[in-house]
Amino acid sequence: MITSAVFLVNKDCNQRCNFCLNSWKYKNHIKELSPKQKKRVIDELHNNGITSITLSGGEPLLDKSLFVLMDYASSKGMRIKLQTNGVMITKKMLNHLKKMDSVLVSLEGTKGVHNKITGTNNFEKAVGNIKLLKDNGINVSTNFTITNDNIKNIKSYLQLTKKLGVKANFTRLYQSGCGRSNYKELNPSLNDFEIFLKELSKSKQPIHLLGPVPVCMLRKVNFKHSFATCAAGKTEIAINPNGDILPCPSWPFAVGNILKNDFKEVITNLEKATERSGCIDCSDFSICGGGCLVSRLFNGNDLFAAVGKNKLGGRGGLGETSCRTLTPAHARKNSNYSDTVSDANIYKATNTI
Ligand SMILES: C[S@@+](CC[C@H](N)C(=O)[O-])C[C@H]1O[C@@H](n2cnc3c(N)ncnc32)[C@H](O)[C@@H]1O
Ligand code: SF4
Ligand code: SF4
Repeated sequence: MITSAVFLVNKDCNQRCNFCLNSWKYKNHIKELSPKQKKRVIDELHNNGITSITLSGGEPLLDKSLFVLMDYASSKGMRIKLQTNGVMITKKMLNHLKKMDSVLVSLEGTKGVHNKITGTNNFEKAVGNIKLLKDNGINVSTNFTITNDNIKNIKSYLQLTKKLGVKANFTRLYQSGCGRSNYKELNPSLNDFEIFLKELSKSKQPIHLLGPVPVCMLRKVNFKHSFATCAAGKTEIAINPNGDILPCPSWPFAVGNILKNDFKEVITNLEKATERSGCIDCSDFSICGGGCLVSRLFNGNDLFAAVGKNKLGGRGGLGETSCRTLTPAHARKNSNYSDTVSDANIYKATNTI
């Protein structure tokens, strides 16, 4: 049953992270919903049994209607989480942010590493605002997307989050947007990934693995912390800034549109598109579900394979250019990622798994 949704409220962002799963934001071809339509999205979610909503983007704090949406969702009794790069948080926002269940601030490494990945000098601002949230009693934690750029930074990073007194969340790299174009360069080797997981396991700090890592791999390294499994289309959906419904924010195809299609019909499409298969004979399948479904979509059973030949058209098969090596201006100009396709194509694509 779907009980939570990640609502990507806007496309704009003030950073250009080299792994960012949103490449559509570089091009203006998604028509973002109006504030009024965004409220209707919340109505639809609420009316269809969704009790928890994560407001994300783009950078959601750039969306002028964000606090209106928060208050609106809150008035309906929904649990609200915010995903932000933290840069734009101000003291004036604290009263709004106190209504949040939690705030997840992306912090991709210690100073030099974070700035390199995000293409900014925003590290100090992000850290300052994490402290501000923490000092004001807001439930704040960090998120770190694991790539070759920060995997070796982990010991220093854990010292930093310890000093900040916050829980550190970690997400594996999803093959979406720039994270897909640059997957081969950015996705850590299996060996490095296991060393990384062991390093996390040694720590006594509060740590949570957000991105779904196959349970067999966690068992292999005797992973000691909490972890999430793939919720795509099982308990969670994502809504793009134009209202398109996806099984998760990284899914390459829409299964419908929340303001245009019947929600229950869309959920049926969603269930078909995200049917778990692959290693169903495994005794851990009921808890694991076979790892990240997007990874399975691209790599079949080789859940950590670098992008090579894949079922959806080879490396960069969705048309992204190499985001990491390009300047933001180039990235904006050259990216031609097509965000959504027609229903017919959804099934053509997913049935090839
Ligand atoms: C897409 S961002 C949107 C919200 C906000 N701009 C931020 O950075 O927190 C949400 C989260 O997704 C993570 N993320 C972005 N691209 C990713 C990818 N390719 N794989 C895994 N996580 C990714 C970011 O690190 C961030 O924590
Ligand atoms: S991950 Fe980085 S580039 Fe992507 S939306 Fe968040 S801050 Fe912007
Ligand atoms: S279900 Fe598949 S990915 Fe998950 S633990 Fe079993 S073999 Fe590993």
